[in-house]
Amino acid sequence: MNQDYIIPNNWSIIEEGFDAERVKSSESLFSIGNGAMGQRANFEENYTAETFQGSYIAGIYYPDKTKVGWWKNGYPEYFAKVLNAPNWIGIEIEINGEHFDMNSCAEIKNFKRELNMKEGWYHRSFIAKLQNGVEIQVEVRRFLSLEADELGVIKYEITPLNQDAKIVYKPYIDAGVKNEDANWEEKFWEPLNVNHAENEAFVVARTFKTHFNVATYMSNSILLNDTCLGLSPNNSNATEDKVQFSYGVEVAKGQKSAIQKFGGYTVSLNHENSALISAAKSVINLAKSKGYEALLQEQIDAWAKIWEMSDITIDGDVKAQQGIRFNIFQLNQTYLGKDSRLNIGPKGFTGEKYGGSTYWDTEAYCIPFYMATKDQQVARNLLTYRYNQLDKAIENAAKLGFNNGAALYPMVTMNGEECHNEWEITFEEIHRNGAIAFAIFNYYRFTGDYSYIPEKGLEVLIAIARFWHQRATYSTSKNQFVILGVTGPNEYENNVNNNFYTNYLAKWCIDYAVEQLEKVATEYDSDYERIISKVNLHQAELEQWKKVAGKMYLPFSEEHDVFLQQDGFLDKELVKVHDLDKSQRPINQKWSWDRILRSPYIKQADVLQGFYFFEDHFSKAQLEKHFDFYEPFTVHESSLSPCVHSIQAATLDKMDMAYTFYLRTSRLDLDDYNKEVEEGCHITSMAGTWMSIVEGFGGMRVKNDALHFEPRIPNEWTGYSFKINFRNQILQVAVTASETKFALEGSKELTVYLNGNAIVVAPNNLISV
Ligand code: BGC
Repeated sequence: MNQDYIIPNNWSIIEEGFDAERVKSSESLFSIGNGAMGQRANFEENYTAETFQGSYIAGIYYPDKTKVGWWKNGYPEYFAKVLNAPNWIGIEIEINGEHFDMNSCAEIKNFKRELNMKEGWYHRSFIAKLQNGVEIQVEVRRFLSLEADELGVIKYEITPLNQDAKIVYKPYIDAGVKNEDANWEEKFWEPLNVNHAENEAFVVARTFKTHFNVATYMSNSILLNDTCLGLSPNNSNATEDKVQFSYGVEVAKGQKSAIQKFGGYTVSLNHENSALISAAKSVINLAKSKGYEALLQEQIDAWAKIWEMSDITIDGDVKAQQGIRFNIFQLNQTYLGKDSRLNIGPKGFTGEKYGGSTYWDTEAYCIPFYMATKDQQVARNLLTYRYNQLDKAIENAAKLGFNNGAALYPMVTMNGEECHNEWEITFEEIHRNGAIAFAIFNYYRFTGDYSYIPEKGLEVLIAIARFWHQRATYSTSKNQFVILGVTGPNEYENNVNNNFYTNYLAKWCIDYAVEQLEKVATEYDSDYERIISKVNLHQAELEQWKKVAGKMYLPFSEEHDVFLQQDGFLDKELVKVHDLDKSQRPINQKWSWDRILRSPYIKQADVLQGFYFFEDHFSKAQLEKHFDFYEPFTVHESSLSPCVHSIQAATLDKMDMAYTFYLRTSRLDLDDYNKEVEEGCHITSMAGTWMSIVEGFGGMRVKNDALHFEPRIPNEWTGYSFKINFRNQILQVAVTASETKFALEGSKELTVYLNGNAIVVAPNNLISV
């Protein structure tokens, strides 16, 4: 954990002082994205010390052939890698003949990075003294346009401070890039052609195997004291995968020179291969016609619109405020819901690990955020993404020996195929199937849009119910159904029998599918006919499902009066985390895997994840018992853990704990709790941070088609507020220690419940209670 690194600020992420040790962490934290592409905060100029280069394009991946485990039947053939895409930001710089490199400067002063979340740009400034004695002031601003999502903009300014200088700007685009992590050290990009004229250049490259074609482009202009010099490059250099221009300018002491670079990608996901360059030219022309200032203003306006709906304010606690805004900002940089082919990768556009692939994180954590802060179509798109991959999930289950249309959704996927490469997760972490069914339930509960179920959702529910029915085993000794050989959400334990969360979810999935079948049969008969004949479902099969659900075994300890995480959990040496020496944490970096597996330590909410999903199936006293039993063994080494615990602690009025977990989830990356932020940020858990305010402190639940709140406020805060798009009306909720205020933007009255009491909120009328 590193708490003194990022300077607290309500709207910006700020780092002051240059420290080469922190470069990789800052590259993650200051990442920018616009839903279609994103990149780590790599320097534009050459940097010869430790750095992790990353620029990513949504939906562009490479199936990296599996290295281990392929000899096991059913093993995925590849691990999908989000690709480090061609570099369009590069600008080499020479000052009086010396290559500028922060790693070899005589001195760096006043170094500052700022990620302005309100306006959506990243800025870096410093004074550098080169070995040749020239002192320069550098200011660089970069943003990825939300309005034109194929466009990135850089303004790189250099002012010589102590003497006149010849500055040579050498902007380039380069498809000769690699991933940090590649199973076989292969190249993932095949250059196809390069093309340049005047100030513009294009490199077209194609991914091997997946054959995504990408045109990377740049267009440059050189300025002196903010006036464009109209220069053409005095030199250009092209190889098969790179084009570099060179512009020399004589700059007098105190004059500000600059290069303005427009760049980015056009990709075959959105254009014909033959039209990539002309599409890039159109983006350049649009950018040039608007100009830098107008593009920046457009960016500020576009972010203002996002914040208008999704901002959460916290009064009296800057670190908490900065944390939640960072999380909301990163989520919106990663996924904006415009394209139903895309999803939300656990690291978004900030790193390679987990890449841009889809995990259960989307259904379990992200959907509530997108549902409440955007139009409901966005959440529907996320559900449709899985519907569109149903056939692949059925094929995946068939590979593992299931039949009759049973579906096992992948743990990790880019295109519907399983591409996770650890057997205990790939084959065993089957609970992900349940989250996908739960999201359908949750979507309907929140939006009231039932149409999704007869149109698409029911087919998914049936296929998932079929899987659970076939995956359960009848135990004659127990006279109950058991589920053997699984990994629960707690990945610090593999191949366990009867993981409570998995068994409970399996039972619920079947019950819910049966319930929806009955509802669709009575209310949507033509959809029912269509679906039943498509999936060929008979009453006899339904009866078997019901038997499994009705007799599902749930491990329980009479002694502790709690459901057991899995069979045999109590045989472990139950030493609480609190009694572990601090030097042993995080255990995933200090202990052997074997030791972790035998320990009682829980990576993330497991039984408690079940209590989170199905809170209303249990009493508060039961929740408390389970929370008190399991939390002390939980190491929270998954980013997905603190948010669930924060919500539950708040529900149980354990406000100090709730606040501590809140800080941990919201500042996980900013304060680097898990000592790994240099690999990238934890994007999907950021939606959990949002939940920990809205559902945790705000106590928001949807019951019987109405919003309920039980607001609480941490002592550290004087107030907080958030907005909810509930069924196309926007409700603003503002909480202080003494009152809760509701305001509604909408056309009709909304009845909400505050601590169980009904309150009618009329449009455009503030209510304080
Ligand atoms: C967690 C999983 C999660 C994955 C991606 C892992 O560390 O244990 O539950 O799906 O990260 O966020």
